[in-house]
Order: sequence, then C-alpha cells, then structure tokens
Amino acid sequence: MDAFDDILRDGFDDYRAFVNPLIAQRAKLAREPIRVVRAEGGLLVDSEGLVIEDFHGTQAFGHRNPGIARAVRAFLDSDAPSWYPSRVNPFAGRLARRLCERTGHYDNVFFGCTGSDAVEASLKLARALTRKPVLVGLTGAYHGCSYGSVSFMGEGYLRDPFVPLLQGATSIPFGDVDALARVFAGGDVAAVLVEPIQGEGGVRELPPPFVEALCDLTARHGALLIADEVQTGVGRTGRGFLATERWPRRPDVVLLAKQLGGGLLPLSAMLTRRDLFVRAYGSQFAAGESHNNTMGYNALSAVAGLATLDLITDELIAYVRETGAYLRERLESALRPNRLFREVRGAGLMLGVQLDPPDHPWLSFEHFGFPELAHHSVVSPLVCHRLYRRGFFCFTCGHDWTIFRLQPRFDIPRDTLDTFVDAAAEALAYVEGLT
Ligand SMILES: Cc1ncc(COP(=O)(O)O)c(C=O)c1O
Repeated sequence: MDAFDDILRDGFDDYRAFVNPLIAQRAKLAREPIRVVRAEGGLLVDSEGLVIEDFHGTQAFGHRNPGIARAVRAFLDSDAPSWYPSRVNPFAGRLARRLCERTGHYDNVFFGCTGSDAVEASLKLARALTRKPVLVGLTGAYHGCSYGSVSFMGEGYLRDPFVPLLQGATSIPFGDVDALARVFAGGDVAAVLVEPIQGEGGVRELPPPFVEALCDLTARHGALLIADEVQTGVGRTGRGFLATERWPRRPDVVLLAKQLGGGLLPLSAMLTRRDLFVRAYGSQFAAGESHNNTMGYNALSAVAGLATLDLITDELIAYVRETGAYLRERLESALRPNRLFREVRGAGLMLGVQLDPPDHPWLSFEHFGFPELAHHSVVSPLVCHRLYRRGFFCFTCGHDWTIFRLQPRFDIPRDTLDTFVDAAAEALAYVEGLT
C-alpha cells in the first residue's frame, strides 16, 4: 500500500537502529526472511518475491485473515467507542460471555494485551485466594517475560539476568510426580502453573500420570490449577482447549493469548470462576480493580476476538486434528531414514521434530564463533536456515535447540504440507551430509 511504502523500505533498518539490534543481527545471521513486505492469501511475501508459510503459530488463521480484518474494519467504520471510561465495555462483556459459553465451565474473564498479563493475573489471584506463598511451575517452562512469568522460565539468558525472582516461585522437574508430591507436603502451595504441552521446552506434553497427580493434589490442597493454554488453546491442538477437554479435573484457571486476537490485535484472557474471584477479593467493590489494565478492555481487540471465535468451528478443529495427524505421519516416514532424526511429537498442528545433535567438531556454535552458545545444538537452527529458503519459516524451541516446532495456519492445504515434508527431508539430509 502506497501510504506505507516508506516504512516498508526503511523501517527494517529503523528497527535495527532503534529497537533491538541483537534480534536484527540474529535474524540476519540465521538468514531469516526479514524484509517481509506483503501478506497475500494468509502467506507472507518478502522483497525478493519469496512466498513464506509462517509456522510460528500466532497467525493461526493466516496473516490478515479476511474475516477478522472485515470485522475490525466494520468496527472502525461504525461510531461505537473503543474505550469506555467506566471500564464497563460491552464488547469485552460479549467476548467474555462467548468464551465462557464455549468452554462451558468458566464464568469470569479478565482481559489483557499479552499472555504475560494473563499469567500475572493468575498468580495474583492464587495468592489473594489462598494467602499461601508458594507458586509452582515446571522446568523448561515458558510463560512470558514479565517478572512473575519469568520467575518460572527455564534456565538461561531469558531468566538468569533477572534474579532475584518472585518470592515463593519454585520450579520442579517436568513431569516428576514425586517432586510434585514433595512440594505439596509443605502445605503452603497457592498454585501450580503448567503448559499442557510445553512449547519452548520442546513440544513436550505433560505425561498422563503427572496430570492425574496434578489434578488430585491441587484439589486436595485447595491450590489453584492454572493451565497456560497460550500456545495450546483456541483450536491449536485439534481440541478447542486442551486442558479443559482432556484433563480429569478442569483447571481452575485457563490462560489464552496469541491467536485469540486473530493475529491482528493484542488480546489475552484469564478464564476462571466467579466464586474464586469473589472469594479472593470479597465484596469490596474497590477490590474489583485489583486486576486492572488500561487497554486490555478495548473494543477493537474484543471485536477481533469475537471474529476469531466465529472461525473456530467444529469442522475447523477436526481439520486441525486430522491434518496434524497427517503431517506427523508424513514427517515420521520421510525423516526416519535420516540418522539425525529422533521423533515427532505434539498434538494437532502443534508439532515438534526432535533431532540428534550432529557428531562433528565443526558443527558447533563454538566453532562458528559463539562460545557462549556452545551448550546448544546447531542442528535445528541449521535445518531452519535451509527451510527459510524454501519458504517455510520454522522456529527452534527457545529452551531446546535440538527441536524445531511447527505451528502452521489452521487451514493449510495438505499439498503445501507435502512440499514442506520434502523440504524438511532435504534439509535434514544436507545437514546429515555435513557430519
Ligand atoms: C505458553 C506461553 N505462555 C505465555 C506466553 C507469553 O505470552 P506473551 O509473549 O504474549 O506475553 C507465551 C509466549 O510465547 C507462551 O508461549
């Protein structure tokens, strides 16, 4: 569009100069497609004309989904206010109703702009409700970068510079039932915060015995069970919401973000029950503002959220489930002959491909001149690097660089996935050939 030509020409350099030079440098070194100038049919097009499927996951309905864009445009063309000084925003109210009806269990919603906003709200609710100090997370977690969230972050550069972290926050080993029982033995647990499938931790689903113990122990001790469905929710795994539909006990709190705003508007939500909210904050009307945030309750985001929910039909969810199974099977058979391939895991269109680190002294970050990254495998970054050129924007898991994660748009055609599987097999064969 003409009005933005200037920005689409020079804004990338402005980003490097004025926002985050390290991100820009990393993208350049990895040869990520950076100068993306157009969205077309849900895909991206860069300045060289490369057409790119975005597998990040946030754009679950494709970039600039026409239905969501239409709803947002209709709102802007109306004369309805977007922000209500009383905070009693009818658009937020309607979206909250739709989310509660959809999940069939919750009757109270807090809205924020980011996933971290929702995480913070849930931690505060747990403390206010139970008056207990201990907040439990799992190793390998990613719940965002605010202080509460980062207190549960897997170890490394995302967490370590920020110590001391939130008092009372503790992480137990992923999936360890005994460690969970031990932490509850202290009698002072306010909440357990988990991702039903850890995303950045390596697309790892919580083992069923752990989920059972988690449901049982939180119920017995009156601790809040918080399911962070920021990645797994809103249809991604081939279920509407993974934890509410699959766990033996429904979580007390479900957190949503990312695709909730249709990829167009920032929007997150904490779904819980009114009785918990009222027990935590009493009948003091002033306490209603204990969870506050200025722009979370804006009508424009709520309109995008409503249009998103309209798209999440049973048919689409079934398509995600079946297409995910198809992709998984195709990947397994195409990659199995490669000696670097270990496994495909995940659910629906939230998949991770785990690879063995290459056994070659030159194929290391140390050799490439990054000794501080020596403990990370180069294998997934190398495979992703090959895939960019084929028009697939894949991502290495933040905490485990042996895995690349795939979260395509929900309506991705199967023949595109066939092309992707061929490209992945070729990329992996190339890396194997270097060893
Ligand atoms: C599982 C999970 N929870 C929370 C967050 C934080 O969301 P945001 O980046 O919007 O704060 C993320 C972000 O990637 C996430 O993957």
